[in-house]
Amino acid sequence: MKQVRMGIIGVGGRGGIAAHWHKPEGNSVIAAGADVSAKNLETFRGKYGNVFTTTDYKELLKRKDVDAVAVTSPDWTHEEYAIAALRAGKHVYCEKPMAITIAGCDRILLEAKKSGKKFMVGFNMRYMSVFPVMKDIIERGVIGEVKAVWVRHFVGLGGQFYYHDWHANSKNSTGLLLQKGSHDIDMIHYLTGKYTKKVSAFGSLDYFGGNKPNDLRCRNCREKDTCWEFVKSETMDQCCFRKEVDVEDNNIVIMELEGGIKASYLQCHFTPEYLRNYVIIGTEGRVECVNEEKVVIKMRPGVKLVKNSTDKELTLKPVEGGHGGADPVICGDFIDYVLTGKKPKTTPVAGRQSVAVGCLGTESIRKGGKVLAVPPLPKGIKE
Ligand SMILES: NC(=O)c1ccc[n+]([C@@H]2O[C@H](COP(=O)([O-])OP(=O)(O)OC[C@H]3O[C@@H](n4cnc5c(N)ncnc54)[C@H](O)[C@@H]3O)[C@@H](O)[C@H]2O)c1
Repeated sequence: MKQVRMGIIGVGGRGGIAAHWHKPEGNSVIAAGADVSAKNLETFRGKYGNVFTTTDYKELLKRKDVDAVAVTSPDWTHEEYAIAALRAGKHVYCEKPMAITIAGCDRILLEAKKSGKKFMVGFNMRYMSVFPVMKDIIERGVIGEVKAVWVRHFVGLGGQFYYHDWHANSKNSTGLLLQKGSHDIDMIHYLTGKYTKKVSAFGSLDYFGGNKPNDLRCRNCREKDTCWEFVKSETMDQCCFRKEVDVEDNNIVIMELEGGIKASYLQCHFTPEYLRNYVIIGTEGRVECVNEEKVVIKMRPGVKLVKNSTDKELTLKPVEGGHGGADPVICGDFIDYVLTGKKPKTTPVAGRQSVAVGCLGTESIRKGGKVLAVPPLPKGIKE
């Protein structure tokens, strides 16, 4: 095979990454799309030259001119679509989170193994420039042996991103600790090179949710001129304060990783700004990303980093392309994986271990902070 013909399931929203695969003269091309929205399919045809589209994903999977499928539809569909695609003999790129339950991930892992097809999870943060820089510092032993990780995730505009549509209901997403946090949990695993063994978490709905009717939309709301959370959108304007909202907006999970590393991840959806702040502490010093463009290394007193200084600051150049330049690279990596077998930066097991923490963290929150252990991988599945 010289060119991978891609089918996209869920063509709107995140399905926009299809643009990175559409290189008619190159090694991948968009061949088909499936979606529940006829309008989104029409837009998709407009972009990719009137390709095959369908509202029934099974029709897409029957096509011989589709070699690989990207599952970019909402979280609760990932397990069903990924398994069906693998069974239909397609390679699969699946958006995070891999599934909304641990058992769902395990079913995908087993199906991927049985099918012999390539399966990859869309952990694009592994491809953002700041995290590989931090990983390199850690792996070179600059900060000594890693012992502690603190991650603060300020989700400014949490309302706009997550509370106006399906994300806000745990039957669709399990919770935002999984839906949003799956990236950061994976980053904790990626940076330390270790997986989580046990979790305990606390969280609640402190700002969103409430007593408004479930069918209330911003466009029809009497408070639209005064509400901070008002949005103008045709698809995402359900009221953030509606009764059915049940995913915590203020979460903290603590994790014990292999090797005795302690980690904490705090995610809050009503902060003024959007920011990810990672601090990794080793026996000799710490490395911190102050934001996605600035990394600081600080050594313990007496441990010189560079001549006459215990501190160093690195400023990274902003990179073009979605998610700090990560999206085009991860899409290209999937194609290389399919065509040449070159291993990408993520693994299916990493996808499952991140879901495990997100799901168990959410369960722990709902059980008053109970400590829960990550179950072993299914028999026969290895990293
Ligand atoms: N890796 C990242 O950085 C990143 C960023 C955004 C979203 N995502 C992931 O992408 C997925 C989609 O998120 P989104 O915000 O684009 O969602 P969305 O609600 O915008 O839906 C995406 C598309 O899927 C379609 N769709 C909805 N239900 C469907 C169904 N049952 N079957 C087929 N298509 C369906 C929608 O019509 C839309 O075109 C989520 O799993 C999310 O976690 C990942």
